[in-house]
Amino acid sequence: MATTTAQARAQKLRAQLDRHNYLYYVLDSPEIADGQYDSLMNDLRELERAHPELVTPDSPTQRVGAEPAEGFEPVEHARPMLSLGNAFDEEEFYSWHRRVAALLERDDFELVCELKYDGLAVALTYEDGRLVQGSTRGNGLVGENVTSNLRTIRSIPLRLLGGSPPSRLEVRGEVYFPKSLFSRFNEERVSRGEPAYANPRNTAAGSLRQLDPRATAERPLDVFIYSLGHAESAAVPDTHWDTLQFLKGLGFKVSDHNRLVSTPQQAVDFYRHWVEKAEDLDVAADGVVVKVNRFDYQAHLGVVGREPRWAVAYKFPATQSVTQLLDVRFNVGRTGSINPYAVLEPVDIGGATVKQATLHNEDYVRSKDLRVGDWVIVERAGEVIPQIVAAIAERRNGDEAPPEFPTECPKCGQPIARPEDEAMYYCVNASCSEQLVRSVEHFVSKGAMDIEGIGGKQVQMLVEQGMVADVADLYRLEKEALLELDRMAEKSVANLLAAVERSKQRPLARLVAALGIRHVGSEVAELLARHFPTIDAMCAATQEDLESVPTIGPKIAQNVVAYFATEGNLRVIEKLRSAGVRLADDAPAEISDQPLKGKRFVVTGRLQSFSRSQIEGRVKELGGAVSGSVSRRTDYLIAGQDAGSKLQDAEELGVKVIGEEEFLTLGEQQAHEPGC
Ligand code: IVH
Repeated sequence: MATTTAQARAQKLRAQLDRHNYLYYVLDSPEIADGQYDSLMNDLRELERAHPELVTPDSPTQRVGAEPAEGFEPVEHARPMLSLGNAFDEEEFYSWHRRVAALLERDDFELVCELKYDGLAVALTYEDGRLVQGSTRGNGLVGENVTSNLRTIRSIPLRLLGGSPPSRLEVRGEVYFPKSLFSRFNEERVSRGEPAYANPRNTAAGSLRQLDPRATAERPLDVFIYSLGHAESAAVPDTHWDTLQFLKGLGFKVSDHNRLVSTPQQAVDFYRHWVEKAEDLDVAADGVVVKVNRFDYQAHLGVVGREPRWAVAYKFPATQSVTQLLDVRFNVGRTGSINPYAVLEPVDIGGATVKQATLHNEDYVRSKDLRVGDWVIVERAGEVIPQIVAAIAERRNGDEAPPEFPTECPKCGQPIARPEDEAMYYCVNASCSEQLVRSVEHFVSKGAMDIEGIGGKQVQMLVEQGMVADVADLYRLEKEALLELDRMAEKSVANLLAAVERSKQRPLARLVAALGIRHVGSEVAELLARHFPTIDAMCAATQEDLESVPTIGPKIAQNVVAYFATEGNLRVIEKLRSAGVRLADDAPAEISDQPLKGKRFVVTGRLQSFSRSQIEGRVKELGGAVSGSVSRRTDYLIAGQDAGSKLQDAEELGVKVIGEEEFLTLGEQQAHEPGC
């Protein structure tokens, strides 16, 4: 028999654990460290082991107590779990509001705006403040008893807060799988040879229907409570808004994003806000739900079929659709990369027809376990290239086949290779015609040399006819030869040649971007051109020189050096030069804001007011370069406390040694010396 002290202690520990659980999982503001929580939990476990008769079903130790089930029992809902009518645009939302106003014969009623969580609806029943049953929505009338699994969700209270809970209470909400954890979870599944889940929603559903609650407990499910099913023997509020606050007070996790508004315009504002921002939430939301606030109005409006007239789901534009993966094909990029892409049965996503999706690289295809013939979920968000989110493994019929990956270049048939630290395969043939086509396409494109009149088709022809063997050949094109080509009339040839001529005067940064140096896009090209205002200066720059440019790291620097170290590339540059293409910027780079331009710094010792990376950043900002060791070429050693061998080196080599303060004045002085 347990002593009363043991019983009192168990109660105290449970109350403490419940409170900290609530602070952590519901309010997201813990007061104690995880370790302290664990040690309270251990204390309670030990106490319960010593006094098994003290264990109660609502003890925090009992979240994952149950044995695996054979199946789930049906549960009849006391009141049907309704669904919602949809509004797909503002017009439909306003017409819902007008209908409601007509039925209520007034338009000054308040509305509650909530997010529409894309998870799984559940009902939770409490008796005398204790969780006794949890079920899925099922068909709205009968769901499944998943109590043991729901108990594992830490934001679901096993016991309600406060002194006098209703004798019987049912609440409803949405269980979801946090987005942030979804892809990692899926990757782990695939690596164990299990099929990937299509989206967080399916994952939540799959997790709640695990027969073994221990499997559910391993999945980080969460919940938002959005309504009261019914309550007995308690004064419940008479509006939905007050009910949400009441539920919050009982310890339920109710969203802080809910809003009470008084006009439909304000509800539209709420929608407009979340249509932009929902992506940032950790819960998937596919719209907002707008509900009439007063319960007496709700009762007056009633339900038609399964849809209440007093609420509407105002949906976000679709970004995903389901379609079939018809084929996986490969093209060759301008760097020779072998790029897999998906050929899809055309599908409409939010008003645009999608026929292809990028597949990035082989690892990506394997990690998603995509098979030709699969039904797949395709996503198109904003301007981003369509992506395949996942294959729907449940819809497979056995005819699907994993794609075959090429072992040679799909265009030139030469071998392909995968560099050690990369996910991409590359065609090793430097004169692969497809690479050439892609690099010429890139060279003439808008952000690069912007040569109008040369598109994909023309490039293909020029390369096929052998008229262009490198980008510089564009400047050697002749009228007569061009006129021989398919569909090239006098006028278009004249336009093309004029466009080629005009492109010779593009700023250096455009040319640098056009060359197609790996990792050098237009922004990096701008930076390079600002620091090295001629192609010759860029060509002469060492890895160190390049890295001294703010935001240019070793990877870019390496690629620039490698580009200019390749004979074929130098030949192209000489051809461009002799064709009269501009290879320098006229105006020298602004120097007044680069007072340390050309100066080489080494930093050593402990500094007082800068971290190492701060001071290095500052040197680079002011135009200087930082290197790791002192040499004759070093201009300044910035020495902090306990400077060691570098200080010795500097002294031996006669390099000027300065402190932090001197460094600061150095930057300022030089900044004021014009033209320095
Ligand atoms: S209210 C009549 N509020 O949407 C009330 N439902 O189509 C019905 N849902 O099965 C529920 N977020 O799973 C409501 N804030 C929210 C919701 C929400 C998501 C789901 C719920 C329901 C479905 C209705």
